[in-house]
Amino acid sequence: MEAMGGMVLHICLLLVLLTDVSARFIHVPSSIRHGIEGKSLRLPVEIYFRLDEVDIQGSWSHTTTSGNRTILVTFTKESSIPNMMYRNRIFFKEPNMSLLIRILNQRDEGDYHLNLNIEFLNKSGRVFIEEHTVRVTVDVPVSTPVIEKSPSYAVVEDKANVTWTCSVERGTRVVFQWYRDNVLLGVSDRYHFSKDKSTLLISPVKKEDKGSYRCVASNPVSQERCRKASELTVYYGPYNLEVNSDQGLRTGEVFTINPGEVVFFECQAESNPPNSYVWLSKRRNTTRVITEGPHLEVVSYKLAQAEEYLCRAFNNVTQKQDETQFTLVVASLGTGKEKHTQDNNAVSPLAVITLCSLFIIGSMLLVFFRKACHPKRVLMRIYNRPISDQKRPHRSGHEDASEDFGIYEFVSMPGKIESAQASCRSLARLESLQDMHTTIYDVIRHVPETPGQNFLK
Ligand SMILES: *[C@@H]1O[C@H](CO)[C@@H](O)[C@H](O)[C@H]1NC(C)=O
Ligand SMILES: *[C@@H]1O[C@H](CO)[C@@H](O)[C@H](O)[C@H]1NC(C)=O
Ligand SMILES: *[C@@H]1O[C@H](CO)[C@@H](O)[C@H](O)[C@H]1NC(C)=O
Ligand SMILES: *[C@@H]1O[C@H](CO)[C@@H](O)[C@H](O)[C@H]1NC(C)=O
Ligand SMILES: *[C@@H]1O[C@H](CO)[C@@H](O)[C@H](O)[C@H]1NC(C)=O
Ligand SMILES: *[C@@H]1O[C@H](CO)[C@@H](O)[C@H](O)[C@H]1NC(C)=O
Repeated sequence: MEAMGGMVLHICLLLVLLTDVSARFIHVPSSIRHGIEGKSLRLPVEIYFRLDEVDIQGSWSHTTTSGNRTILVTFTKESSIPNMMYRNRIFFKEPNMSLLIRILNQRDEGDYHLNLNIEFLNKSGRVFIEEHTVRVTVDVPVSTPVIEKSPSYAVVEDKANVTWTCSVERGTRVVFQWYRDNVLLGVSDRYHFSKDKSTLLISPVKKEDKGSYRCVASNPVSQERCRKASELTVYYGPYNLEVNSDQGLRTGEVFTINPGEVVFFECQAESNPPNSYVWLSKRRNTTRVITEGPHLEVVSYKLAQAEEYLCRAFNNVTQKQDETQFTLVVASLGTGKEKHTQDNNAVSPLAVITLCSLFIIGSMLLVFFRKACHPKRVLMRIYNRPISDQKRPHRSGHEDASEDFGIYEFVSMPGKIESAQASCRSLARLESLQDMHTTIYDVIRHVPETPGQNFLK
């Protein structure tokens, strides 16, 4: 097995060496040459020996694309014999071995072979045989392509197909390329090209197909771009509908605005042609049109606590519509900066309030235990904290509940010993004590809602 491998390797090496030897004395720069019809084409040959050291004998022959092989010229260092049929179509001047083909036409296409025997005149007297082939194509340069679109009018996305045609008057072996806004069109399952890419069918047309189309026609000897681009207009949308406002605070689908503020909303969606917009308000399961157009102005004092709004965008060409809904809440926000820090701060005001409350409860309980059985006390307010400067609607029946916020301790009044005793006695028992705790806790838990709580929910 190994011996076999070694042998193969040796044969390979030998072949490489032989090839190397045969390619040692001449070089034909390219193995394929593209000629232009009507022009001439030189097939150059470089030699790596001194002419006075050798005798040479060689020929150029031509194999047509149909397979007919003809000798064009045979030559030595000193003389050449051209084929009389090709006398006017080729030029060869020894000892230079390059071949010039004049006034190319389609018949000149095919393979050109150079066969050469080189005999060294020094003592070695060795003869080398060289053979090289050059493939020649002959092309007519392309003329400026013309682009056409069908249909010629603007189309509605998802509903229409567009066909582009690129054509040239002259040119052989023409291939086409397509560009949209100067970017080469790649592969897409919506693009259908003909074999030479002279037609492009886009099916179905989408929004992203809009733009300026050009085609480029090319062959091995030339490349031309159409002079005038063809525009494709696509009707689409609405897409990416959204409502924005410079004022107020947005949390998801809830806008919070300050009381007394006048707020402007703008509804936007991508669409061609431009959308028509309608604003609606939803209240108690009924929808009412407020206004038309992209803008909405809301005066907060005219609002109930929270109201649902809806912006609807409609494209009357695509016959598509979209809508978005949001809730408008009126609550005190403070300045915009504050809002921001509230959003980002790890310690929210709610947490601070809770911590303070817990601390106060602890302290109160301590005080309470120490003083619970000293009945000679009047109803006392231990803690009272104004909540907010904002006047807010409150749920309790009496004048201003926020004034009464705090922890209350119940103790008996002089002269009402019976109930006082009951109080003390019951305090001695654990379950009653728990009741007491619950009572205190409840008072604190009914902290009137602070504005912050509203939008943090
Ligand atoms: C052969 O002749 C052409 C011009 O006739 C020249 O450009 C070319 O360099 C010559 N080649 C060699 C190997 O002398
Ligand atoms: C080959 O060339 C000869 C003479 O030029 C012609 O008669 C013949 O039809 C050619 N054959 C082919 C296959 O083209
Ligand atoms: C003869 O000339 C060839 C090419 O220059 C060279 O490779 C070879 O070694 C020479 N032989 C002798 C015997 O000088
Ligand atoms: C678009 O082309 C598809 C096939 O690719 C065809 O089914 C559809 O009917 C064509 N639509 C129009 C409007 O021509
Ligand atoms: C579509 O709406 C625009 C206004 O947005 C209007 O000018 C145009 O006439 C409408 N077209 C149709 C076909 O309804
Ligand atoms: C809203 O109206 C629809 C019918 O118009 C009814 O089915 C639904 O129960 C109503 N919802 C409420 C909350 O009133």
